[in-house]
This record gives sequence, C-alpha cells and structure tokens, in this order.
Amino acid sequence: MRKKIVAGNWKMNTTPAEGVELAKAVAAGTRNVDKSVNFIVAPPFTHLSEVMKVTRGTGVAVSAQNCADEAKGAYTGEVSAAMIASLGVEYVLLGHSERREYYGETSATLNKKMALAYANNLIPIYCIGEKLEEREAGKHFEVVKSQIEEVVFNLTAEEFSKLVIAYEPVWAIGTGKTATADQAQEIHAYIRSVLKGKFGEAADQTVILYGGSCNPSNAKELFSKEDVDGGLIGGASLKADDFIAIGESF
Ligand code: PGA
Repeated sequence: MRKKIVAGNWKMNTTPAEGVELAKAVAAGTRNVDKSVNFIVAPPFTHLSEVMKVTRGTGVAVSAQNCADEAKGAYTGEVSAAMIASLGVEYVLLGHSERREYYGETSATLNKKMALAYANNLIPIYCIGEKLEEREAGKHFEVVKSQIEEVVFNLTAEEFSKLVIAYEPVWAIGTGKTATADQAQEIHAYIRSVLKGKFGEAADQTVILYGGSCNPSNAKELFSKEDVDGGLIGGASLKADDFIAIGESF
C-alpha cells in the first residue's frame, strides 16, 4: 500500500498572517479526514516558522517551495536547506515547472538542491512534466524520462526510497485544463516503469502525485487511478474547504 498525499503549493500567495489562518483551517478541517491521507502545506519561506507552530501535532506536514543550490555563504536572497530543516519542516518542492521556466532551473541545479535536501533530512517532492508543445509533438514520455534520468537516477537506493514525485503537465497548471484521469494514469504508470528500470521493486512504493488544476470536482476520478497516489494542488489549496475536499476524494 502506497502512502496517499495531498500537498498544497501556495506559491507566492497570502501574507504570513493569512497563511497562518489558512494553515489553522487546514489543520482543523483534516481532523475528520481518514488518517490514511497525509496532508502537506507548502507556504512561502516567510511563513514557515509560524505555520510550523500552528501545525505541530496536528498531522499536517509542512514543505518549503524551494531551497538554495549551495549550502551556505554569500548567496544573497537564497534560503538554504539547513535553514528550512532547522524549523522542523519535512519536505521541499524541487523542480517545479515555474522554477524551471522563470528561474532557469536545470537538472544540474536540481542535482545540487536534491543532495542538499537529503543531507538535511528534507524529503524532496520532485516535480516533472511536459509543456504543451511537447505533449502535442508526442514527446511527453521522452521529456519526463529525461527529467527522471538526469536527476532521480543519481540518487542512492536509500534516498530514492523517500522521494515523492509530482507529475504536473505544464499545460494544466493554473489553466483550468486538467489531464484526463486516463492521461494521468498512462503517464504515471510510465513514470513508475522508468523508476522500476533503475530501482526495481522499490518503485512500487514511490508516491506519484498528479498536479495541474486538480480540484474537488476532478480529484475523485484522478485519485481512483492505480498509479495516481494523490495531488499537488495550487489554486485550490488556497481555500481550506476545497483542499480538504480534495483530500477526502480518495
Ligand atoms: P494548479 O497548480 O493546481 O493551480 O494548477 C498546481 C501546481 O503548480 O503545483
């Protein structure tokens, strides 16, 4: 049995005070949800410390949205994996398509971030996914395969056993267009087969989340698919009720 995860990527939204209220509402709302569902919230860096305080002991885990690709030192504006981990944060999103697209993150950068995340006991949620033109050209399998080979294949078996993957087709992020449940299943199964090729049966335990306009109306169908183990939720994670409803969709 694989873990079920619903993770909320707040992106650059909410003030710290609003974020604390949202985290409290999520923590309160998850109390009645089946305990087999693991909820994670990923607020901006400025909120992490306060969000940790209001989620501690509630079962809601916290993730950062990014970390630096260097351990420490003269890197103005960066936040290190060690700083994040020191707050008790458990997860870090790495390789989100917005980071790849707007901040030039490459596999080389992501390999450094992955290593630092593991060195500080953060669990990476590694995001992959193709752009619209790549899907239209039938290259989506190839794209996710190289995003996996160039980064995930460098992990040790021990590191891999902790990794969470989020498949997010870029054309579905924030667009209101969701991949169909069959499209999601097709590529999730493919991703698992690529992971199996390298890591063997351990890949049967890898949590693979779907992301991209996932909401309370489509989550049930997506999560009913064998290889879809939950969701990485953007827009709909900003409303506690919607986020909880997604978690209730398994
Ligand atoms: P969305 O974002 O749910 O708003 O499409 C998902 C994500 O980018 O993680």
